[in-house]
This record gives sequence, structure tokens and C-alpha cells, in this order.
Amino acid sequence: MLQIGSLILSTPFLQAPMAGFSNDAWRRILTRFGGVGLLASEMMHARGSLEMERRRKALHGRLFGFPLRSESESDFGAKIPLSVQIWDNQAEPLAEFSAKLVREYVVQVIDLNFGCPAHDVVQKAHCGSWLLQFPDQMHALAHAVVESVREASRSVGLAEPLPVTAKMRLGISADRLTYREAAQALEAAGVSAVTVHGRTARQMYSGEADWEKIAEVKSLIKIPVIGNGDVRTAPQAVHALKTFGVDGVMIGRAALNEPWIFRQAADLLAGVPEKDALKRPTAEFQRGLLLEHFESLLEAHEEAEAVMLMRKYAPCYGVGLKNARKFRIQVVKTSTAEEFRRVVKEFFPTE
Ligand SMILES: Cc1cc2nc3c(=O)[nH]c(=O)nc-3n(C[C@H](O)[C@H](O)[C@H](O)COP(=O)(O)O)c2cc1C
Repeated sequence: MLQIGSLILSTPFLQAPMAGFSNDAWRRILTRFGGVGLLASEMMHARGSLEMERRRKALHGRLFGFPLRSESESDFGAKIPLSVQIWDNQAEPLAEFSAKLVREYVVQVIDLNFGCPAHDVVQKAHCGSWLLQFPDQMHALAHAVVESVREASRSVGLAEPLPVTAKMRLGISADRLTYREAAQALEAAGVSAVTVHGRTARQMYSGEADWEKIAEVKSLIKIPVIGNGDVRTAPQAVHALKTFGVDGVMIGRAALNEPWIFRQAADLLAGVPEKDALKRPTAEFQRGLLLEHFESLLEAHEEAEAVMLMRKYAPCYGVGLKNARKFRIQVVKTSTAEEFRRVVKEFFPTE
């Protein structure tokens, strides 16, 4: 059983935050299958989000789908909990934005990003995995957020403060591996769990995630450690959990192609025989799911934007099926909802 602060997850399989992908519409697709212990938002810049609201009176679009505290029952019942990821390198906006999230939205975890390797975030903004070079600064930032979330949780009458977690990489580069100090600094700051993606920032997504080093983090700290990187199948997820002693396994890219991967992993872990647990939905079912995904996006976006977004997701749905390539070539050229639906109808791959 994976417990993060006061939050008990129903399974140890967590969805990875993915900017540009892990929005409300996609999270709803995952929810259809279940098996996922914790959902994650896309990362949001604390200062940027606060500024957007102050100046433009507009909320960050990535908040779409977050239930408002003023309109919701405080008990979120059997729903899958949601973790919101924020990033910055200054304590004040991080503390302010996290408190705002707790006060105004019904979310279950605040996650700090110390793993983003993107040039603009690392080299320009000196945020994300840049901060892995400075464990003391990570400590100060995490501590500020833990305190702020504690206070905000109390102010809205929560019995227990929402847990604050952090996601990190092994270091900025192979010759500056700081995962030991970084994980220890986060634990000392009062963070409730740490996710480790077993790569350096410089590696971006190349090479392979180093699960031995993830296991080493587990041996160094007492709070739960969630391992992440290169889990492509449900049996691999269960294997990682059992082999590396981690408390949870986070899955990103594989879930774009197979949103049912968490369900499969949870079933395998529960002892369901492989032949039953690993059954794949039919091509027909996937086609329906893809159209459902598109309709969800249309609720939140203009038609052109929804189609643009779907041009990224739709090819994932066909992976592994016959004529997937042909479908991909056609679907990435669509620009209206009508065209999109027609291409799906005509070209979606078959078994
Ligand atoms: C398109 C994309 C966007 C991502 N965005 C984020 C993000 O917003 N925050 C974050 O912590 N990690 C982000 N990641 C990293 C993933 O959360 C995860 O650590 C990484 O993909 C490795 O896991 P995987 O091999 O299961 O995909 C992103 C990864 C991808 C591929």
C-alpha cells in the first residue's frame, strides 16, 4: 500500500505529468480504465500563473477540469486523486501559488518539479533540473511550499495538510550526480514522497533510466520513493516495483499508447493471471475511445485547437495495430472536426 502523507493510494502505479499531454481530457481517458493510484496535471509555472491571473484576469488553461472548492463537496469520494505540479526557483511565488491551489481547488497533492530538462526551463529560467545542482536551494523551496500548504490546508478546514511531493532526476549531468543530496534535502524539508526519473537532465530522454540509482535513493530516505523511467509494459511495472524496492512506479509515455496499462499492472499485482490481465481492448473499442477523447477536448478548447491537440494523441491510439502508419499520415493533416472524424472513420487501424 502506498501512502503519501495522509493520502492512501489505491494502487502503487502513478501517472507521470506530461506537459502538452496530461490534461483533463486525457486524465478522463485514464480514469475510464482505473488502476492508476494518482493522476498528474501538466507542470505550471508559479510566477507565470499568478501573473496571468493578476494582469489578464485569466486562469492558466492547465487548470481546466480542476474541481473548484467553492462548488464541490469536500469529500472527493471514490475518485482518483489528482497531483498538481508546479515549478519555479523562488520560494514566494511557489508558496503563494500552492496555497492558492489548495484554497481554491479540490486537489490532493502538490508536486514540485525538479526534473524538467527543457532548455527554456533549465538554461534560461534556471528552474526544473537546474536546481538539482543546489540541494540547499531545493530544501528552501520545498520547505516554503510545505509550510504554505500546511497553512492553506488548515485555513480551508482540512483535517490533515495536503501532501507536498517532488519529482527529480539524478542530476544535471553524469559528472554532477546530486540525487543523494537532493533526495535527502527534500526529505528534510518535509516532503511526503519523492519521484525519481533515473536519468540526468543532459540525457533528456536518451539512454536508459538507471533503476539501480533509483533503488539507492530508496535506501537513503524514509519517505516513499516512486521510480520512473522507461516502463513500457504492465509486467515491467510490476517487475520494477518488486525488483527495485520502490514504493510506487510512475508511467508516462507508455500510457499515451496504452491508457489501460495501469489497469493491467494493478490486475497483475493483484494476482490476476497474465492471459486475463493483459487482454487488449479491440481496435473498434480504441476507435470509440479516441472519439470520446476528442469530444472531451472540444468541451474545453476551440475546434481548431482541439484538432491540433488530437493530432498529437491520435497516432498513439493506432500503435501496434494494422495500418497504423497510414492512419498517422492522414490524421496529422486534419484541421477541422469534421475532417478529423472522417479520417478516424475511414483510416483508423484494424486488428
Ligand atoms: C511530452 C512530455 C512532457 C513531459 N512533461 C513533464 C512535466 O510537465 N513535468 C514532469 O515532471 N515531467 C514531465 N515529463 C517527464 C515524464 O513525467 C517522465 O518523467 C518521463 O517521460 C520518463 O517516464 P516514461 O519513460 O514512463 O515516459 C514529460 C515527458 C514527456 C515525454
